[in-house]
Amino acid sequence: MDHQKAFSRLPHLGTERLILRPVQLNDAPAVFKYSQDPQMTRYTRWMPHCRLEDSIFFIEQILAQYAAGKPAPWAVVLKEGKQMIGTTGFVHWSPIHARGEIGYAIGRQWWGNGYALEAARAALAFGFKTLRCNRIEAMCDVANLSSARVMEKLGMRFEGVLRQYLYMQDSHRDVRIYSLLFSEWGGK
Ligand SMILES: CC(C)(COP(=O)(O)OP(=O)(O)OC[C@H]1O[C@@H](n2cnc3c(N)ncnc32)[C@H](O)[C@@H]1OP(=O)(O)O)[C@@H](O)C(=O)NCCC(=O)NCCS
Repeated sequence: MDHQKAFSRLPHLGTERLILRPVQLNDAPAVFKYSQDPQMTRYTRWMPHCRLEDSIFFIEQILAQYAAGKPAPWAVVLKEGKQMIGTTGFVHWSPIHARGEIGYAIGRQWWGNGYALEAARAALAFGFKTLRCNRIEAMCDVANLSSARVMEKLGMRFEGVLRQYLYMQDSHRDVRIYSLLFSEWGGK
């Protein structure tokens, strides 16, 4: 695949228990169900969804990113039952610097099953193999311990705290930044 066009033709990726596939408009009810939860969106860059229209708008933005060939996430779907449980993928990509940033969000009812880790591993493999990244970053609010744990389990290295780096919800948040280099990646 021409890596410059990777996001306009985002492939389906399979893992042991999950399928990562492009987000579709008919995912809106599933997205709305988990995105209403203020506990789930406490550390996301987006606010809780109050109405189904918020989830439709959220998906439309993702579809616009695909159409423009710009970084956008996959839907994370359980292989068994085909339930859409969250999103993961690239939030930034710089081909010039061969650098990308990943993120993930899983609905609260599915937390603690290793799904974020499994999905993010597939995103990393795509980043190193298809996008030809040399460096993949991830960052989270300093208080988001479960997200930091996922980054550590991905083998990413903690690089420090960026002060008031992201404006999330209604405040400037200190974030922990992690990265993994192609030379450090285990090829999984
Ligand atoms: C962060 C998030 C994606 C993790 O999803 P998940 O599927 O539950 O993640 P996993 O099951 O792969 O791993 C979670 C790890 O965090 C650990 N964890 C959970 N809560 C924790 C806490 N309060 N303190 C420390 N570790 C914690 C779990 O024990 C697990 O580690 P372990 O497998 O070593 O036991 C999920 O909580 C989420 O979507 N949160 C809301 C959105 C968000 O914050 N996204 C990240 C933005 S940077």
